Amino acid sequence: MSTTDDIKQRLDIVDVVSQYVKLTKSGRSYKAACPFHIEKTASFFVFPEKQSWHCFGACATGGDIFTFVMKKEGIDFGQALRLLAERANVTLTYKTAQVTAEDTARQDHLFKLNEVAAEYYHYLLLHDEEAGAARKYAEGRGLSPAVIDSFQLGFSPGKWDGLLTYVAKAGYRDDEMLAVGLTVQRETGGFYDRFRNRLMFPIRDAKGRVVGFGGRALDDSIPKYLNSPQSLLFDKSSIIYGIERARGAIRQNDCVVITEGYMDTLAAHQFGFENTVASMGTALTEKQISILRKLTRNIIVALDADAAGLEATTRSITTIDQQIPKEHWLAWIEPKTYSELVKYEIQVVEIVGGKDPDEIIRNSPEKWAALLKESQPIIDFTLKKEIANINKDSSKDKSALVSKFLPILSHIDDSVRRAHYVEKLSRLLGLDERFVRDALFELQAREKKYGAASGSKVIKNYANRAPSSRHIEEYLLALLLQFSDLREEGIKISADYFEHPENKDILLKWQGNAGADSFGADIDPALKEFYDHLISLGGQLPPSLHQSKREREYALNDCINRLLEGHIKNLEIKKKLILSEEKDRGDTESQLAKLIEHGILESQQLHDVFKKRGRLFSRIKGV
Ligand code: GTP
Ligand code: MN
Repeated sequence: MSTTDDIKQRLDIVDVVSQYVKLTKSGRSYKAACPFHIEKTASFFVFPEKQSWHCFGACATGGDIFTFVMKKEGIDFGQALRLLAERANVTLTYKTAQVTAEDTARQDHLFKLNEVAAEYYHYLLLHDEEAGAARKYAEGRGLSPAVIDSFQLGFSPGKWDGLLTYVAKAGYRDDEMLAVGLTVQRETGGFYDRFRNRLMFPIRDAKGRVVGFGGRALDDSIPKYLNSPQSLLFDKSSIIYGIERARGAIRQNDCVVITEGYMDTLAAHQFGFENTVASMGTALTEKQISILRKLTRNIIVALDADAAGLEATTRSITTIDQQIPKEHWLAWIEPKTYSELVKYEIQVVEIVGGKDPDEIIRNSPEKWAALLKESQPIIDFTLKKEIANINKDSSKDKSALVSKFLPILSHIDDSVRRAHYVEKLSRLLGLDERFVRDALFELQAREKKYGAASGSKVIKNYANRAPSSRHIEEYLLALLLQFSDLREEGIKISADYFEHPENKDILLKWQGNAGADSFGADIDPALKEFYDHLISLGGQLPPSLHQSKREREYALNDCINRLLEGHIKNLEIKKKLILSEEKDRGDTESQLAKLIEHGILESQQLHDVFKKRGRLFSRIKGV
C-alpha cells in the first residue's frame, strides 16, 4: 500500500473537509457553498463513498483530501502529505528494505543491539541506585517481580548518553544505534539517548526478537509513552505487544484478548489471563489481525466504551452497506466491511466507566473474567449501543435506527444469521418482525432496481477503476520522464484527469519545470522513491517506443484519452447520484437544470473521446 493510500484509509474526507467548511448531509453525499469561490447555491459536494470532493459550480474541479488541503491551505503536495500524515499518525518512510543476505546479517546484528539495550535497561531497573524512583513506580502500579522479569521491564537513566556509552563499549556503532532508534541525531552533529528517565518496555515480535521499545514517563511529563520510531525492525502496523508471551495461551484457550495498553496486558498476564496482548494504542491493522488469526479465530477486543471509538462506529454504520475498503467499523480496527468482520469473528468486551482493563483486573480478576465471558459480536454490541441512545417512544427514532441497520442486515450472507438479527432488532425496538423483514426486502429490491446509480455497485465500479487509473497515470508519467520530445504534448495535460495525488504532484512539477532535466531535484523527499520507480518504469518501456516518435505520441495520447474517459465517467456517476437525490427531495428547479445541462455536455465529451480513441486505434493498427 502506498503512503497516500495508507493516509486516505485512516482519514475520512468528511472529517477533514468539515474542519474548514460546514457540510450539510444530502442523501449519500454532503454539500456546502464552495469554499473556493463565492456562490449562493451550494454546488460543492463531498462524497464519502468515494472519499472525494467536487465543485459543480464555477470551479468545476475536484479531488481527494490531498488536493482539498493543498487548495485550502495554499500548500504543495509534499506539505499536504506531511500535514495529513501527522493527522493520520502515519510515519513517512523514504526507503523500502530490500532483503538480501547482507541485509539479513545486518538485521540480526541490529536485533542483537536491541537485545543488549533491553538487558542494560532491565539490569538498571533491578539494581541501579538511580532507578529507585522507577522501582517505586513499578511497585506502585502493582507490577509483580515475576512480570517485571518475564517482560524484561527496564529503566532508562536520566543522562543523555547512558545507553550510548554502554552499547558503544559493547562494540556497536553510532549509525547502528540511530538505525534502531535508540539514539537521536543532533542537528549540530552527535547523538543522544532517545529514552531517558522512563520505565522501559521491550517490544518483541512473535519470534521473540526485540524490535523496539516503549518508554513510560515516571511522572506527568509528555509524551506519556515514547516509542521507537519506524525502522527496519520496528513496523508499527505489524507489532502486537506481548505476542511472544501470549502465544501459547492463545493457542491453548483458542482465544485472544486485545487491549489498548501495555499496562493492561501486563496486569492481565500477572493475574493469569495470559492470552492477552496490546495493540499499541493505534488502530488494529489487518496485518496484526492476520498474525493473530494464525493462532486463533476467536478475537476479543477490549474496548473503552466511552471513547471516541463509538462515535466512529455509529458513523460508519450509515455507510457500511457500501462495502468500501476504507470503511472503519471501529476507530481502531482496520478491516472494513461487515462481512469481513463477521469472518474475523471479532467480539467486543465492553468496559464502561472509563476504566482500563488494568484497573479492573487488579480490583477484581473475577469481574474481568465475567466481562470476557459476556463479550458479544461486534454487531450486537453496536446494536445495543444504538438502542440505548434513542427514545423508544419516538417512532421517528425507531424508524431512523431501522434504516441504519437494514443495510448491514442486507449484507449478511448467512440467511439464518440474517433472520436472527431481524428478529433481534424487532424485539429490541418492540416492532412486529414482519415490518422489519418487509423493509429489508424493500431495500434489497431498491438496491437491485437502481443498480449502478445508487449503491454498492457504483462503489464497486470505483474500486475496480482505481488500480487501472493508477496504472495509466504511472505509465503516462514514465513516458514523459523518459522522452523529452513529448514535452509539448505533456504540458497540455490537465492535472484534473489524475486521480492519485502523488502522480498529480509529479505531473504538475514536471509541467512547471522548464529544464526538465533538473526536475528530479524538485521532488519532495517523501516522493523520491516513487519518482525513482517511475524512472525505472521508463527504462522498461518497449523498444518500439524508443525507436519511433510517432509510437510514443500514440501511447501518450492513448493514456490521456483513457484518463479523460475515466474522469468524465466518474463525474457522470457523481452527478447521477446527486441528481437522483435532489429529485427525491424536490430541490430547486434551476439547480436541477444546471446539473442536467452539465450532464449532457459531459456525455458529448465522452462521445468525442470514444470517437477519438477509435480513430487512434485504427491508426496504430494501420487500418
Ligand atoms: P497507563 O497510563 O500507564 O496506565 O497507560 P496505559 O498502558 O493504560 O495506556 P493508555 O490507556 O493511556 O493508552 C493506551 C496505549 O496507547 C498505551 O499503552 C500506549 O501504547 C499508547 N499511548 C498512550 N499514550 C501515548 C503517548 O503519549 N504516545 C504514544 N506514542 N503512545 C501512547
Ligand atoms: Mn492504564
